[in-house]
Amino acid sequence: MKLAERLLLENKAWAAEKVQDDPDFFSRLENIQQPEFLWIGCSDSRVPANQITNTMPGELFVHRNVANLVVNTDTNLLAVLDYAVNHLKIKDIIVCGHYGCGGVKAAMTNHDFKLVLNMWLRNIKDVYRLHRAELDAVGDEDKRVDRLVELNVMEQLRNLAKTSIVQRAWKEHNRPHLHGWVYRLSDGIIKPLLDIEAGADIDPVYRYDDL
Ligand code: CO
Repeated sequence: MKLAERLLLENKAWAAEKVQDDPDFFSRLENIQQPEFLWIGCSDSRVPANQITNTMPGELFVHRNVANLVVNTDTNLLAVLDYAVNHLKIKDIIVCGHYGCGGVKAAMTNHDFKLVLNMWLRNIKDVYRLHRAELDAVGDEDKRVDRLVELNVMEQLRNLAKTSIVQRAWKEHNRPHLHGWVYRLSDGIIKPLLDIEAGADIDPVYRYDDL
């Protein structure tokens, strides 16, 4: 059996099980999508958004990329954010990183990962530079990776607050609230790091006063 065929078989078994437990499961979801959360997480296969939060289809609107970055020229991320905030009326956005993140580790090396990965990882190197004094003082390498994982989550949360999409929604609807979390692969526990409430103060240079 080809590897991908296994997934199709598993899908049939999953769908049958869902209907057995709850005959209306799919018909309820078919015509309406009203998730309450936008989840921005790492693409890492060990950090599946729904499973680690024990949420069902329909509960999370999800965007994942390498090292859970919020890059203000990333039209994919911005389209997800725009749709989530302005059409789904999302009230809470979660940026969830994870300890031991391969993207963060890679960004801390001086290795040439070639063009596209170098471009992407540069964003994480910039976070390192912003916090160089603190990070350089951490002797243990794994601990330094994990601290950069935390600092990266908080920086990406601030990147969300810098967007006019978020600031306009803050002004007009007093939402969304932003939550920065980090997931530990070794015990499955999510630790909250930083909350930015709707309307919070941000560095004045990023503020739009004529939205
Ligand atoms: Co990762």
